[in-house]
Amino acid sequence: MTTLVTGASGKLGRLIVESLRESGAPADTIVAGARDVSRVADLGVRTARVDYTDPASITAALDGVDTVVLVSSSAVGQRTAQHKAVIDAAAAAGVEKFVYTSAPKATTSDLVLAPEHKATEELIAASGLPAVILRNNWYTENYSADLARAAETGVLAAGVGDGKVASASRKDFADAAAAVVREDGHIGQVYELGGDVAWNYEELAAAISEVTGREVRYVPLSFDEQLAGLRDAGLDEGTAGFVAALDAGIRDGALADTDGTLSRLIGRPTTPLVEGLRAASV
Ligand SMILES: NC(=O)c1ccc[n+]([C@@H]2O[C@H](COP(=O)([O-])OP(=O)(O)OC[C@H]3O[C@@H](n4cnc5c(N)ncnc54)[C@H](OP(=O)(O)O)[C@@H]3O)[C@@H](O)[C@H]2O)c1
Repeated sequence: MTTLVTGASGKLGRLIVESLRESGAPADTIVAGARDVSRVADLGVRTARVDYTDPASITAALDGVDTVVLVSSSAVGQRTAQHKAVIDAAAAAGVEKFVYTSAPKATTSDLVLAPEHKATEELIAASGLPAVILRNNWYTENYSADLARAAETGVLAAGVGDGKVASASRKDFADAAAAVVREDGHIGQVYELGGDVAWNYEELAAAISEVTGREVRYVPLSFDEQLAGLRDAGLDEGTAGFVAALDAGIRDGALADTDGTLSRLIGRPTTPLVEGLRAASV
């Protein structure tokens, strides 16, 4: 079995490659795909240039590959077309297992990020590829900037109300991706993956307090208050609206569900919030 991991220059892709190696996959059975292969050379596995906007690069990278992990692109707004290029190339190459990192409840969620993931899942289904969908909840590492800000100000301000987030560390999600690559029996599954504990922002503030040693309080903002604050902080209109819409999605429960699937896949509990924040803050 030979596995291509795309986005291997990114944080999650790199961890997936490392997890595959840790679980015993030989170096020559893993291909780290990246736009700039010099950035993945230190992983010690095969490398291939993969640029989602250059279909020929994807086709060439798939030579001898039977399993693909498509780590969703960071180019928000261009992702559906980029992912389609990978799906088309993988289908043409006869890939036997296609793993995609999606978003929670991608096909039904109102979350502002969901439409590109929904479209991608639909393209995968239409392609006929034998696929596994990993609908990853939030990374705990997403909160490293909030943690740094709260350490300075003592305040965690957000527009999420009492919404909960079942975050887990990137390493947890990476280990799950490696498990479904390694193991049989996952084809056709759509896994909703999140941390074992869904926490609210009062609990996040308490966790940040524990990590920073400074008392941090949660200040809930209305949608308009948050939007105004983001504009004042210098964000352009589109970005401010996007961030505020994300928080509104969290307030409405888009990231609240957790059923233990992630810890079952990785064979251990997910990384607790405080531990994940502490690791992300160093
Ligand atoms: N669940 C969450 O909380 C969460 C949070 C943020 C993002 N995400 C999603 O999860 C993905 C992985 O997360 P991450 O933390 O690893 O993000 P990341 O570090 O930003 O990595 C994104 C990867 O996408 C690659 N990429 C972007 N455009 C590309 C293109 N045209 N061709 C080939 N590769 C391209 C980047 O390549 P370069 O290194 O060359 O730029 C990078 O390797 C993100 O891309 C995003 O879709 C999820």
